Amino acid sequence: DGSIITIPVVVHVLYRNSTENISVAQIQSQIDVLNEDFRRTNPDADNTWSQAADSEIQFCLTTIDPNGNATTGITRKQVTRQDWGTSDDMKRTSTGGVNPWNTSEYLNMWIVPQMTSGGNTILGYAQFPGGSAATDGVVMGYNYFGRVGNVSAPFDGGRTTTHEVGHFLNLRHIWGDSNCGNDFVSDTPTHQTSNGGCPVGKVSCGSTDMVQNYMDYTNDSCMNLFTQGQKARMRATLLSGGPRAALGL
Ligand code: ARG
Ligand code: ZN
Ligand code: CA
Repeated sequence: DGSIITIPVVVHVLYRNSTENISVAQIQSQIDVLNEDFRRTNPDADNTWSQAADSEIQFCLTTIDPNGNATTGITRKQVTRQDWGTSDDMKRTSTGGVNPWNTSEYLNMWIVPQMTSGGNTILGYAQFPGGSAATDGVVMGYNYFGRVGNVSAPFDGGRTTTHEVGHFLNLRHIWGDSNCGNDFVSDTPTHQTSNGGCPVGKVSCGSTDMVQNYMDYTNDSCMNLFTQGQKARMRATLLSGGPRAALGL
């Protein structure tokens, strides 16, 4: 296809204090990371994998709100709840959160003080294409969003949001969420399971793991690519006939 698709983003910040009420600079740094990673202009891009792709997808904080008025593309709401879990409470005013802006026109991002599930910290989560419009979008903890300001190593490079937007655009985990599972992308190697840290050179399921892929679970500083096959899958969701065809028009 060859055309650049630009997706308008609105960021809803739910915060208890000034640390969690992240700055415009921190938010803009995340938009910058998304643009670098999806266009493969990220400074850490290397030549390890020849199938690395410029997805020709980019992002901007929206400048027009649902009523047609000017906006920063950021909403802020003070809350008292710390742990928001992963059951979409942050996406509804009725459960203490903020309702999405029209999910067929905007990529909604919610930022929360904390998420846990079964006692484990959750960095972020996403809804795949085809889900309920009322809960569509991605959610990240404030300290895993952006690469400046109040961010926590080793997830301080903005790659959690890159990964979640990958899911939002229909990408599966590279290990297919099972033992040598299928991610429905032919140019990503099969992985036995998720990788943490940065185990470069690891072999599983008969080939070298692509630990540098954004859809693995490695550290932010380890990741640097989407593949051509992942690009095709993401763009198919955004192009005419796809489930997110109206985004970015
Ligand atoms: N656990 C999250 C998910 O499955 C995100 C993992 C992000 N990884 C990272 N290195 N930032 O969606
Ligand atoms: Zn994931
Ligand atoms: Ca694959």
